[in-house]
Amino acid sequence: MIWSGLFEHWSKRRSCAIRTGVITVGLVAGMALSGAYAQVSQPVFPSARGEQCVEPVDVMRRDHFEFLKHQRDKTVHEGIRTPRHSLAGCIDCHADKDAQGRFVPVNAKGQFCQSCHVYAAVKIDCFSCHAARPSERVSQSP
Ligand code: HEC
Ligand code: HEC
Ligand code: HEC
Repeated sequence: MIWSGLFEHWSKRRSCAIRTGVITVGLVAGMALSGAYAQVSQPVFPSARGEQCVEPVDVMRRDHFEFLKHQRDKTVHEGIRTPRHSLAGCIDCHADKDAQGRFVPVNAKGQFCQSCHVYAAVKIDCFSCHAARPSERVSQSP
């Protein structure tokens, strides 16, 4: 009784302060949480081979699909094949290898193209026709 009475008295006087306190705690917790989420949900992908990309990295982040589409149109409509923005080239540098040393498709979970596109909610159909890993010779020997 004493305690609840005390609490009532205290809470009436302090309710405003308490509410502020709760909100502050909530905000801090929320900020910590969203910070943690931001870390968890950042796309993480294996690093590329080669010295550098075909364009500066910030340009590639922003415009890689423009290069790809342009390259596709050049090849498919005009028959012009240049290596610079070729899709096969992207795969050559950006496909990772598994523990057995075999290439992993770039559209597999956690891989280069896939992880970023999941993050950005982008869907591409390119790999229904194009190989998602570099061509490699498969040894027939055990
Ligand atoms: C229906 C099958 C199909 C789909 C889907 C497709 N392509 Fe292609 N693509 C082709 C064919 C066929 C060629 C011509 C190959 C050649 O002549 O070298 C080509 C060529 C290309 C080229 C030029 C060659 C190279 O390796 O650079 C690029 C770039 C390209 N496609 C990008 C894309 C992208 C990006 C997507 C997804 C948005 C895509 N393609 C989806 C069939 C397809
Ligand atoms: C000669 C090898 C090579 C080729 C070919 C290549 N890349 Fe890269 N790419 C790199 C390197 C190296 C980086 C720097 C980041 C790293 O080390 O992983 C990079 C970075 C990128 C990034 C930015 C990644 C990030 O960290 O945000 C994108 C997007 C990208 N490349 C897309 C492509 C696409 C699409 C193609 C084909 C048109 C392509 N790359 C061709 C080597 C290559
Ligand atoms: C650094 C993150 C990142 C990486 C890595 C990445 N992409 Fe993308 N990609 C995006 C984003 C973001 C978009 C959507 C951009 C927009 O719509 O403005 C996109 C869009 C595209 C599109 C256009 C889709 C459409 O609907 O028009 C193609 C094609 C594409 N990416 C191909 C690739 C390929 C192939 C790879 C791997 C070689 C790759 N991307 C790797 C972030 C990435």
